[in-house]
Amino acid sequence: MKFYILTILPGYFEGPFKVGILGKAVERGHVKIEVINIRDFADDPHKTVDDLPYGGGEGMVLKPEPIVRAIESVKNKDKKQRVIAMTPAGRLLNQKIVRELSEFDEIIILCGRYEGIDERVLEHFCDDLISIGDYVLTGGEAAAIVLIDAVSRFVPGVVGNRKCVEEDSFSRGLLDYPQWTRPAVFRGIPVPDVLLSGNHKEIRKWRIMKSIERTLKRRPEIIREELLTDEEIEILKKLKDKF
Ligand code: ADE
Repeated sequence: MKFYILTILPGYFEGPFKVGILGKAVERGHVKIEVINIRDFADDPHKTVDDLPYGGGEGMVLKPEPIVRAIESVKNKDKKQRVIAMTPAGRLLNQKIVRELSEFDEIIILCGRYEGIDERVLEHFCDDLISIGDYVLTGGEAAAIVLIDAVSRFVPGVVGNRKCVEEDSFSRGLLDYPQWTRPAVFRGIPVPDVLLSGNHKEIRKWRIMKSIERTLKRRPEIIREELLTDEEIEILKKLKDKF
């Protein structure tokens, strides 16, 4: 899978794709990253990429010409491509969108800066506008890294254990169950007895219970009963009365 990142801050991306799971994915060729400097597509001697907003107001707006030239430089009819602008005014990213995006061959990500991007670019040259949350960042670069990280997990070979990807939080509308590791007692705080019992049937049931309990407590709105098993629904019904 290939990601093109269109930005006026190419230096932003020097670190994140060199380390950890993403670093490995890039090293092994499962994921390809190409950072494109929008400024290289400006055609005036000052390499201008922004201008004042029509109608007045604060800040500067990214001009359409350099961005559209940058997009066109990577467009390829033979590839299944998606052009996405990162903006707080986009639709909210979630695991379903992440999964859908992982089906494309190439994703072209446009990072906004300043007060925004000329609307003609967003309306006529992008397929999708995506926000990573209801807060405003200084630009779309950090959001692009989040998107690439989440989508890359679905690329075969990136995460060793496919089960990890398929069964993660959100895929069935439940948060993951909590985890503990050694030591059995840390600063006087013990690991729950059931996990030390060796009774795998009990452990499985307890984990489902914990998973449902924390989802009800923290994110009740993500629960999708139609995706739950009969056993999970039964536990959910019992726990619901408590919350
Ligand atoms: N740019 C600034 N804030 C953003 C957000 N929340 N999501 C995506 N891009 C952004």
